[in-house]
Amino acid sequence: MKKKILVSRQYPKAGISLLEKEDFLLTIWEKQRPMTQDELIEQAKTHHALMCTLTDKIDNHFLEQCGHLDIISQFAVGYDNIDVEMATSLGIPVGFTPDAMSEATADIAFGLMIAVARKMFFLHKAIIKGQWGYFNPTGNLGIELKNKTLGIFGLGRIGVKMAQRCKNAYDMDIIYHNRTRNKDAEKLLNASYVEFDDLLLQSDVLSVHCALTPTTKEIFNRSAFKKMKPSAIFINTARGPIHHEKDLTHAIQEGDIWGTGLDVTNPEPMQPDNPLLSMENACILPHVGSGTIEARNQMSVLAAMNIIEFYNSRQIPHIVNPEVLKQ
Ligand code: DGY
Repeated sequence: MKKKILVSRQYPKAGISLLEKEDFLLTIWEKQRPMTQDELIEQAKTHHALMCTLTDKIDNHFLEQCGHLDIISQFAVGYDNIDVEMATSLGIPVGFTPDAMSEATADIAFGLMIAVARKMFFLHKAIIKGQWGYFNPTGNLGIELKNKTLGIFGLGRIGVKMAQRCKNAYDMDIIYHNRTRNKDAEKLLNASYVEFDDLLLQSDVLSVHCALTPTTKEIFNRSAFKKMKPSAIFINTARGPIHHEKDLTHAIQEGDIWGTGLDVTNPEPMQPDNPLLSMENACILPHVGSGTIEARNQMSVLAAMNIIEFYNSRQIPHIVNPEVLKQ
């Protein structure tokens, strides 16, 4: 019997054409909006495999009804939308797409850092409002990044790429905090491991690159921001719920930190009346870290290959819960 694959969004053709070459029956959700969870469950019930992404809620409720799935293949490196523990207990392997978007996401983190340091988004909006005026020797001043200290929270694939950019461009000193030390990256970047509080105290730019877990949820809250330098820039391109957004807003308003660059917000989508959007030192993007043609093509290929390899050889090249395949 042909395997029926449910493809939850219109992912780039690069990966979909690989699936089409196999002996599968594909159902592709053609609408621009994601499926509601009810629609997703309804569809998934009649399929063997699911290719999904962060807008699809693969939680306890979904898995209770779709425990028959052979594989869930996530089009993303983050998978906090999936209850991996429950999928594992049901024997469902979960694939993901690491590294495909590391360069693209590091570019967005790096770009946001400069944009915040020089108030770029705010100044752009001022021109649109007809507020250019004239050259002002003491107005619109930003801060320089040369020789500053970059603190990375989560020095993995993307964090390393961000640190390399900052080192090469601005000769920044790199400090980091991780669950486990990354000795290879320490050598590569001459980076120093520090405790979380020291990361807060010493960073001129603090960039978040960790996964969203119960431990990291809203770890950047009022008490964390209070410990940071008043000149510090907070960058988050990982997951919005890692920072407490009202506390972040308050920290900028109170001058506890200089500003923030966010590609992810808490919650998403950010509403147009959010005070961060009109602040001088805040630059916000709508979760586009992986949004390059190259990265999205590669993500699509990896997500498709996880399904193809699974059915052809019971291997999944990029798997979140490898223990399932050993069962
Ligand atoms: C990811 O891969 O987790 C990004 O957030 C979306 O591409």
